[in-house]
Amino acid sequence: MNTEPWRVCLSDMTVGQEEIAAVTDVLLSRWLSAGPVSSAFEQEFAKAMGIPDAVAVSSGTAALHLALLALGVGPGDEVIMPALSFVAAAAMTVAVGATPVFADVVAPDDLTVDPADVATRVTGRTKAIVAMHYGGHAADMTTLKTLAARHGLYLIEDAAHAPLVRHGEGMLGGLADVGCFSFHATKNLTTGEGGMVVAADPEVAARCRAARSHAMTTTSPQRDRLGALTYDVTGLGFNYRPGEMASAIGRVQLAKLPSDRAVRAGLVARYRERLASVPGLTLPFARRTDPDCAYHLFAVILPPGMDRDRFRESLRLARIQTSVHYPPTHRLSHYRGETTLPVTDGLADRLVSLPLHARMSHADADYVVEQVSAALDPAS
Ligand SMILES: Cc1ncc(COP(=O)(O)O)c(C=O)c1O
Repeated sequence: MNTEPWRVCLSDMTVGQEEIAAVTDVLLSRWLSAGPVSSAFEQEFAKAMGIPDAVAVSSGTAALHLALLALGVGPGDEVIMPALSFVAAAAMTVAVGATPVFADVVAPDDLTVDPADVATRVTGRTKAIVAMHYGGHAADMTTLKTLAARHGLYLIEDAAHAPLVRHGEGMLGGLADVGCFSFHATKNLTTGEGGMVVAADPEVAARCRAARSHAMTTTSPQRDRLGALTYDVTGLGFNYRPGEMASAIGRVQLAKLPSDRAVRAGLVARYRERLASVPGLTLPFARRTDPDCAYHLFAVILPPGMDRDRFRESLRLARIQTSVHYPPTHRLSHYRGETTLPVTDGLADRLVSLPLHARMSHADADYVVEQVSAALDPAS
């Protein structure tokens, strides 16, 4: 991210000399497209998750696309997902010919999809549910899994915000039929652009792996180095392969994830402690007691009636970068319909994400708190 002209930017990455060295090694190897480094990244990611396999791809969006295809979601099907999310799951649902159905979130202090609301939206056409772990906080997977099982639906985890978060017996992304991760530049583990798909059923993982590279029966390294002479194409596929430079960055970032997460956790604790006394501000997830979280975002909800643009402008003038996660998908022009979602609609114009990243200091967090308090003070 370009961190200028901010004093505290919204997100930043921890890339440094180790990533530079890893990329340099790839360049010197003269094999830049998907190959051994990407395979090693997959194996290390799968090992860290405690699962047998993972499929590296070119983005989180590609991961979602492959997940839907591999589960056989297609024309006539409906996929239920939270509107309070990034548009990728809805877009990929449309891309496979299915219809996104938007569901509400639990409450202002829990911005994950509400299983009770999901249940009211299940029809004879529903094929899958997408749960998104907002900001790295787990959606209610136990209830969603029970619901999915009762109706014979697939459950997909959009774990773009939640790499390697322990949850119960497993890890987020590894609890349902398919889990999709993003390694976009703003994510906790970044490769610039990239993603990963994991699947409970090895056949689903194999379908994702095949479709990632045009469903060709041999890979480019197999043809170049291992003597395969040609290939067949056995299905519909795409070029969703990761590049070796991205995967090399990913391997280093994977190793850094625990220490980066500890920094994020400390900042969130600091924010929570200092913002708790700021009148009118709602702090989502403040009552959560999950043992693990990715601490990807720190969203706050402004008091009702407060002009969000004005609030954000005050922070911009203090050189603090903010964002909104997310403009709800059911209100975007392309997806707008009749759906009303009381909780999401009630907070959509009040959500603001404050800076959170592993290069921030507690002094930065304190400065943000000071400026947030000033921007909220009616006397200022
Ligand atoms: C919740 C969520 N889902 C999916 C995506 C898509 O990931 P990508 O940008 O890597 O395609 C993102 C990231 O942008 C995201 O935040």
